[in-house]
Amino acid sequence: MSKTRTALVTGSSSGIGLATAQTLAQKGYRVMLHGLEDVEQGAAIAQRIAQETDSETHYCQADLSRLEQVDRLYSSCVEAFGGVDILVNNAGIQYTAPTAEFPPEKWDLILSVNLTAAFHASRLALPAMKNAGWGRIINIASVHGLVASANKSAYCAAKHGLVGLTKVMALEHAPDGITANAICPGWTDTPLLNQQFEHYAGEHGVSFEEAKLGLIHSKTPYPSLIPPAAIGELAAYLCSDAAAGITGAALPIDGAWTAH
Ligand SMILES: NC(=O)c1ccc[n+]([C@@H]2O[C@H](COP(=O)([O-])OP(=O)(O)OC[C@H]3O[C@@H](n4cnc5c(N)ncnc54)[C@H](O)[C@@H]3O)[C@@H](O)[C@H]2O)c1
Repeated sequence: MSKTRTALVTGSSSGIGLATAQTLAQKGYRVMLHGLEDVEQGAAIAQRIAQETDSETHYCQADLSRLEQVDRLYSSCVEAFGGVDILVNNAGIQYTAPTAEFPPEKWDLILSVNLTAAFHASRLALPAMKNAGWGRIINIASVHGLVASANKSAYCAAKHGLVGLTKVMALEHAPDGITANAICPGWTDTPLLNQQFEHYAGEHGVSFEEAKLGLIHSKTPYPSLIPPAAIGELAAYLCSDAAAGITGAALPIDGAWTAH
């Protein structure tokens, strides 16, 4: 692996993205962190990772529901590193409600952050990857890119779309040394799930910790949440030369959720 390869991890101020940025920095990649946090907060996260890993890191704030801010994020990578070798489309949000009651503005926001932003970031990154003859696109999809759950219409539509987009890019760019894969996590230990745990706890009259177990067991026999670092390690593996032939895959890391 070349020490100078660079990674952009969207939504890396928290959860899976943060763990992935940390892992890639540990492996020696230069990493652009990104999130909604202001520049001071984000830069502090990037600086901590740089100190812990001895890798070069930067931070860019951008709201990925807005096209011009996706453009600005990509430009900031070009400015800092000269380009992006590894693009991890990770930023994502969740909202749950029955389809008939789903607020249209929530639908639009989820589709724009979870799917459309990944298209735009990939569209911007692919030409330089193609010129370089090497690239990695890793889309953090979800088990909900493979199967559905009630009350998650926008999320499931976006994640199924992201898996489809991944396959198209893999077909288009296999001859160019570029791989495109989706990682499909199940319940993972991040703040994204808090709203669902709180809702379950209220509905069933149980504690937050009991709600976690209740929700986990409603979908999978695996007895705990997936650690975000495990997803970072899988992403790092997909960046390795050993994984050059893995492309167009949607890889579950889900405690057998989708084995049903
Ligand atoms: N936690 C899980 O159980 C789980 C399971 C499967 C898939 N995922 C996916 O993993 C990805 C990361 O989720 P997480 O659980 O780490 O969540 P998280 O809430 O911890 O982190 C989400 C990140 O996305 C960023 N973000 C949110 N809205 C944004 C916007 N409009 N513009 C730019 N950035 C924005 C946040 O700043 C943050 O960095 C998401 O795509 C999510 O769908 C999570």
